[in-house]
Amino acid sequence: MQTLHVDLAERSYPIYIGQGLLSRPELLTQHIAGRQVAIVTNDTVAPLYLQTLLQVLEGYSVTSVVLPDGEAFKNWETLQLIFDGLLSARHDRRTTVVALGGGVIGDMAGFAAACYQRGVDFIQVPTTLLSQVDSSVGGKTGINHPLGKNMVGAFYQPKAVLIDTSSLNTLPVRELSAGLAEVIKYGLICDEPFLVWLEQNMPALRALDQQALTEAIERSCAAKARVVAADERESGVRATLNLGHTFGHAIETEQGYGVWLHGEAVAAGTVMALEMSYRLGWLSAADRDRGVRLLQAAGLPVVPPQDMTPAQFLEHMAVDKKVLDGQLRLVLLKRLGEAVVTADYPREILDATLRSDYAALALSSNS
Ligand SMILES: NC(=O)c1ccc[n+]([C@@H]2O[C@H](COP(=O)([O-])OP(=O)(O)OC[C@H]3O[C@@H](n4cnc5c(N)ncnc54)[C@H](O)[C@@H]3O)[C@@H](O)[C@H]2O)c1
Ligand SMILES: [Zn+2]
Repeated sequence: MQTLHVDLAERSYPIYIGQGLLSRPELLTQHIAGRQVAIVTNDTVAPLYLQTLLQVLEGYSVTSVVLPDGEAFKNWETLQLIFDGLLSARHDRRTTVVALGGGVIGDMAGFAAACYQRGVDFIQVPTTLLSQVDSSVGGKTGINHPLGKNMVGAFYQPKAVLIDTSSLNTLPVRELSAGLAEVIKYGLICDEPFLVWLEQNMPALRALDQQALTEAIERSCAAKARVVAADERESGVRATLNLGHTFGHAIETEQGYGVWLHGEAVAAGTVMALEMSYRLGWLSAADRDRGVRLLQAAGLPVVPPQDMTPAQFLEHMAVDKKVLDGQLRLVLLKRLGEAVVTADYPREILDATLRSDYAALALSSNS
C-alpha cells in the first residue's frame, strides 16, 4: 500500500492506494469519529461493493443511501435523497458520510456532507479511475445546474481517500479510458517524464495491469495533491488542472449531461487546447500531435462533435468558472509539461481554434 498526503494544515488528509484496501477495516475506522455512518452510493456500485463496506463497518450504525446512477442525476432532487436518508435515520453532527462510487457520487456526497448540519465528516472511496486520480482529491464538491456544470457547490475536504485499485476490474472500458484523459492531463500540465512513461505503459494500463495502474494513480494523485496544497481555492495554479475542461464542459453541456462522458469531453477539449497552443506558436506541430496520439492510444475521442458550432462553444464557455470580469481565461500549454492560465491571446486565434478541422488532425497525427 502507498500513502500520500494532501498538505492543508489542519485539513490535511491521507490518500491510501493499493489492491484490496476496501476490505481493510482500520483504514476507514481510524477516520470515523462517531458511531454513525452514512454510505452514499448508486444502484450500479451497490451490488458490487456495498456488502464489503458494510462488513468492514460492522458495529457502526450504518445507513445506506443508494442513488440512481448517472451524471443526469447530479442535481438538487437527487441531493435531497441524501438529506432524506440522513434525517429519517436521525444522523447527528458526528456522522461520517462515506462516498462509495465514481466522481458523481463523490461530488454529491461531499456536497451533502458540507451542508448537512453545516458540515459533517466525510471519506472518499472512489471506484472509477477518474475519481481515483482526480475528483476524490482536492475537496471540490457540488452538483450541476441546467445552465452550467458544477455551478453549485463547496470546497470541502475529506478526512481520507481510500483507493482500492482492484475495484477497477469491474469498470466498463469506456469509463477506464475516460479516467485516462485526466491521467494524461497531469503529464501535459506539469510532468513531461510522466508523458513518456504513459506512452510506454498505455497498453498495460488498458489491460488493467495492477502495478501500472497503481503507479499511474500514485503519480496523478501526487501531482494533484501538490497543486491543491499550493492553491486550495483556485486563485492561481489550481486552474491549470482544468486543461481541456473549458472546451470540454461546452461539449458536455451542449450534448446534454451523460451523452459524452466527462473524460471523453475533456479529451476532445484537450485536443482543442493543444491546437490553440500550437496556433499561438507555443507548441510545435510534433508536440501537439504527440498529445493527440497519446489520447488516441488511451481509446479517447479526439474530435469534438462535428455538429457543434463555434457560436455554441462560445455561449457555453461564457459561463465557465474561469471567466473573471468578463474575460475568458483558458488553460494552454507553453510546452509539454508546462501549463499557463491566460486571457491574453488574440481573439482570432480562439476563433480559428474553434473552426479547426479536428478530423483531419486526428488522421494526420495518427499516421
Ligand atoms: N470534484 C472534482 O474535483 C472533480 C474532478 C473531475 C471530475 N469531477 C466530476 O466527476 C464526475 C465524473 O466522474 P466519473 O467519471 O467517476 O463518473 P461516474 O461517477 O458517473 O461513474 C462512471 C460510471 O461507472 C460506474 N461505476 C463506478 N465505479 C464502478 C466500478 N468499480 N465498477 C463498475 N462500474 C462502476 C458508475 O456507476 C457510473 O455508471 C463528473 O460529474 C465530474 O464533474 C469532479
Ligand atoms: Zn475533469
